[in-house]
Amino acid sequence: AISPAHATNGTLKHVSSSAVASLDDSLVRSERNVQYEHELFDADRKFKERALVSSKDKYIAMYNRSLQDPDAFWSEIASEFYWETRWPEENGKVHFENFDVRKGPVKVEWFKGGKTNICYNALDRHVHAGKGDQIAFYWEGNSPGLDASLTYNQLLQQVCQLANFLKDKGVKKGDAVAIYLPMLMELPIAMLACARIGAVHSVIFAGFSAESLAQRVLDCKPKVIITCNAVCRGPKIINLKDIVDEALSISLAHGVSVDSCLTYANEVAMSREKTAWQDGRDIWYQDVISDYATTCDIEWVDAEDPLFLLYTSGSTGKPKGVLHTTGGYMVYTATTFKYAFDYREGDIYWCTADCGWITGHSYVTYGPLLNCAKVVLFEGVPNYPDAGRCWEIVDKYHVSIFYTAPTAIRSLMRAGLEPVKRHSRKSLRVLGSVGEPINPSAWKWYYEVVGDKRCPISDTWWQTETGGFMITPLPGAWPLKPGSATYPFFGVQPALVDENGKEIEGVCNGYLCIKGSWPSTFRTLYGDHARYETTYFAPFKGYYFSGDGCHRDADGYYWLTGRVDDVINVSGHRIGTAEVESALVSHPQCAEAAVVAVDHEVTGQAIYAFVTLKLGVQYSEELRTGLKNAVRHEIGAFAQPAKIHWAPALPKTRSGKIMRRILRKIASKELENLGDISTLADPHVVQELIDLTDV
Ligand code: WTA
Repeated sequence: AISPAHATNGTLKHVSSSAVASLDDSLVRSERNVQYEHELFDADRKFKERALVSSKDKYIAMYNRSLQDPDAFWSEIASEFYWETRWPEENGKVHFENFDVRKGPVKVEWFKGGKTNICYNALDRHVHAGKGDQIAFYWEGNSPGLDASLTYNQLLQQVCQLANFLKDKGVKKGDAVAIYLPMLMELPIAMLACARIGAVHSVIFAGFSAESLAQRVLDCKPKVIITCNAVCRGPKIINLKDIVDEALSISLAHGVSVDSCLTYANEVAMSREKTAWQDGRDIWYQDVISDYATTCDIEWVDAEDPLFLLYTSGSTGKPKGVLHTTGGYMVYTATTFKYAFDYREGDIYWCTADCGWITGHSYVTYGPLLNCAKVVLFEGVPNYPDAGRCWEIVDKYHVSIFYTAPTAIRSLMRAGLEPVKRHSRKSLRVLGSVGEPINPSAWKWYYEVVGDKRCPISDTWWQTETGGFMITPLPGAWPLKPGSATYPFFGVQPALVDENGKEIEGVCNGYLCIKGSWPSTFRTLYGDHARYETTYFAPFKGYYFSGDGCHRDADGYYWLTGRVDDVINVSGHRIGTAEVESALVSHPQCAEAAVVAVDHEVTGQAIYAFVTLKLGVQYSEELRTGLKNAVRHEIGAFAQPAKIHWAPALPKTRSGKIMRRILRKIASKELENLGDISTLADPHVVQELIDLTDV
């Protein structure tokens, strides 16, 4: 069973400074421009009058209270949810934390001792309040014309049926269940079914390869995996079942067997007959689920019992299983959803994220459903069949809150005005952005063209680790600046620190850290509490370190400037350079690889790989394709390098450390200021690499 085991912290090392790029570097690479610090966009009076938080003063009052008395602030909000047993309140304390590695193991607890269930709060609570006939999900398929919907009543029934199936298969509280599904309604249904019985879901984005899926299965050892046979994405059909079969056989070879593979027959994409099948293990979803009862008892769990694992990339080593628990996550995702989108009854909310990522966990599934919102789920991609699809969907469902990623905005921007203007979009009220810093020009296009200068944009900064929004505008409360995530959410204390871990005040650039816990802080990295401490709490003692660089301007607005570690953000997907390098090196003809990020007009960053071949192997286009395929095979297509740059050798210091600073400059063709290369073991390497740029 999965539990947030708190290891001792005896093995901590200080993070090596080489893992963290210099801040100047990261600022130069961002598009942030001081001119935008003085361009303010405020909501109109009517919007403000109706807003949940209608002025900066109101925000400040609430924010101050959330810091002065976090226990009172959050328990008041938590009381709006259903608790089977209320948390014990000794001296009004509802949380405990140690963020300081010098004082012992890092530990965070919120509402411990309280018993609740997030599925109950997201579904049953609304049904009991008479809202069962309200729409929970509008599902829009990959191809226009294919759609479906579920009311809260129907959703609850389907969740119960699946929960009963899982129980029948022996899944108990604390057991892991793997979910490898595209954006069908069965994906959130599966998450909620796990939560209902206290099982821990581990959703693996359905773009991951068999190798990556196997790695995650090996880590959390699920009893059951839930998948589907195939899916249509844009014009393509992807055979997911084959990937699952391969992953399960890799897992089996490593000693982990998954007893049941529950497979949804997505016959729009592929018939049952064409689906590879393993009798005894594989079960068609539609064949069994309808036989189960549509009610299922709740497993009341402790607020600190695990809710889910979600793997994410770091700068080194294998993916990390970020573990979130129940109570604090529930309270925080619901509250952030409500305030950051100024949510009110009647809103129709659409977030384009896939449930395979944290955004889909917190802001497709839990946050909105906890608020009894009407949620649009979209199976497809923003530019299929054409660049007007998003706005067509907005008009079709009268979407009032639309939440997407800068990469989608930039790609739609390229298609020009016509596909946008063709649709009315008059239902839109609030827009959101997430996944990477939004460049001011994309921000303005989003604001002016998509939102007709009428809709505030919530640029929400947060992470898999934080579970919910950390720095975000509250629509209407204060003026926005294009490209700034503005101010911290209630209870969040950002700190910008310098290389020495000293907090800097006022206008400055620094490493973005957080002082003190917030309710949805991740509690550990599954099975590796020491890595949790080393990665996040040891670099700057006393703080959580986000891995991002940040600027604070004279008005106290925060401007995220991107990762300062070796994590690349491609289309809002976090990819560790080390993972891509190890995938490249798995190719039999590759001797060594070094991966850096380059800026990209649409995807934000792109992966640029320097590859040294084994002795005697010749460069060829075929080999280039082979290397890219190695990455598709090991990780998934989304992590494929945009460019493979042949490297007879890599620039290294005399102690053998690769100088990525130089590689970044070569990759982005900034050859004027390569910096000091005299410390290289062999400075000639640099010219050789430059000469090979277009080979
Ligand atoms: C980046 C996604 C700037 C950042 C929710 C962070 C952002 C990483 C923003 C987390 C934003 C996300 N502005 N940068 N609004 N949102 N990021 O874990 O570098 O997939 O550390 O969580 O995305 O990515 P993750």
